[in-house]
Amino acid sequence: MTNEELILEAKKAREHAYTPYSHFRVGAALVTKSGKIYHGCNIENAAYSPTNCAERTAFFRAVYEGEREFTKIAVVGGPEGSDADELCAPCGVCRQVMMEFCDPETFQIILADGKGRCLQRTLKEMLPFGFGPENLD
Ligand code: THU
Repeated sequence: MTNEELILEAKKAREHAYTPYSHFRVGAALVTKSGKIYHGCNIENAAYSPTNCAERTAFFRAVYEGEREFTKIAVVGGPEGSDADELCAPCGVCRQVMMEFCDPETFQIILADGKGRCLQRTLKEMLPFGFGPENLD
């Protein structure tokens, strides 16, 4: 799965976003070590804080199905009705969830906008000095 193909999957996932409050729609496509793809979208809530980001939706769907090892995730997001013209970086909570299941040195986070711009960083670059399961060993 190339990054370009994965970005297309994230764009498809974005179509499922439930965003009656922010009208900011995000899609994510997460790849497992075995090559399976899990899609996620943001799912908002009238009480606001129970809102789930697209990245966490993808992770939780995958983990529920028994997946524990991941290689990369593509994220696309922007205001409803737009083509997601800016890069949308994962929030701190999503980075922390990634820390639970991913090797920060190798897991790749790919951000794309609607204009063909793309940025790729490791989880360690996005979350330096992260706290993860190994800190509790
Ligand atoms: N959101 C995501 O789904 N992922 C991100 O990377 C950033 C923010 C969502 C949460 C909320 O539904 C909306 O975008 C506005 O914050």
